[in-house]
Amino acid sequence: MAGYKLALLPGDGTGPEVLREAVKVLEAVSKRCNITFDTTTYDFGGDRYLATGEVLPDTAVGELRQYDAILLGAIGHPEVRPGILEKGILLRIRFELDQYINLRPVKLYPNVETPIKGKGPEDIDFVVVRENSAGLYTGNGGFVQKDTPQEIATQMMIYTRHQVDRCLRYAFEYTRKRNQEKTLTLCGKTNVLTYVFDLWERAFHEMGEKEFSDIKRDYAHVDATTMWMVKNPEWFDVIVTGNMFGDIITDLGAMVQGGMGIAAGGNINPEGVSMFEPIGGSAPKYTGQNVINPLACIFSAHMLLVHLGEIDAADAVERACVAFLESGKLKGLSAKEIKECGLSTSGIGDAIAEYAATI
Ligand code: IPM
Ligand code: MN
Repeated sequence: MAGYKLALLPGDGTGPEVLREAVKVLEAVSKRCNITFDTTTYDFGGDRYLATGEVLPDTAVGELRQYDAILLGAIGHPEVRPGILEKGILLRIRFELDQYINLRPVKLYPNVETPIKGKGPEDIDFVVVRENSAGLYTGNGGFVQKDTPQEIATQMMIYTRHQVDRCLRYAFEYTRKRNQEKTLTLCGKTNVLTYVFDLWERAFHEMGEKEFSDIKRDYAHVDATTMWMVKNPEWFDVIVTGNMFGDIITDLGAMVQGGMGIAAGGNINPEGVSMFEPIGGSAPKYTGQNVINPLACIFSAHMLLVHLGEIDAADAVERACVAFLESGKLKGLSAKEIKECGLSTSGIGDAIAEYAATI
């Protein structure tokens, strides 16, 4: 029997509610797949910060290193200035655990409505590999002559060849393993960012030519990528891109696949500890109402199982979600629609857990 140690970070707002349902589904599937989860919950988030003044204790990252994986609910508190928790918790964990890949599948599941006219599940199924450790996100920059008319603000997009190469290698390998169209699209901006994306483009073709001749290489500027994601999402198999562009296009991706209520992601260190999380925020106005959609967190738990190599369990969770969606009980992914059709966060979790235990 395989046993895994999981760190749970419920976080803020509706984070604890969605995480509870994801854990419920993990427990349900663990019994039939002969695996066990030993979970430890950490209270990092806005409430803890407001009570103690501390965002993340110094021991936190060291402790998190001891787990097989981390599952997070949501970070973001209305009474805490934007940036403090995001940088102090989410980005700090990503950086210090060197989770250099942010993996974000964009998949339209049956019975989920996409705002894109005329497109269905057969058209929308691609994955974004977002570089997650560098670029504009490292805070390299600052102010000069702040609060004067001459003020200068800089924030630099810096990439080393090593950072680019390790992200590209993951993306090529992922594309090969995914084994669908075997096409990897580099999303950049080589017509304007002529240094950073020149490096990405050279590294992309060099690696592709030498080591991944079975993978078709494609390139799209980031602005065009957003256009194609809406116009012809079926053209994409795997997209690889830098941190900032990846952040932006994956919010669009979340909408294309039906909404934030279903969009999951993984912060991955292929050689270390990875953290899985819904892409959406903490939705503070719905806190405690039992109306937020737990699907994104349940799909994050699905990604966690894939990452641990528990493929049978992962498949069962995905099939359970599909069965639930196909049951037609859910009329939409938003909190408003969940309320309208008489469902709840815990009700959806119960239903999916039941399928997961038997399907
Ligand atoms: C995301 C979020 C984060 C990011 C924020 C909260 C720091 O938008 O996970 O996409 O920009 O990466
Ligand atoms: Mn984002």
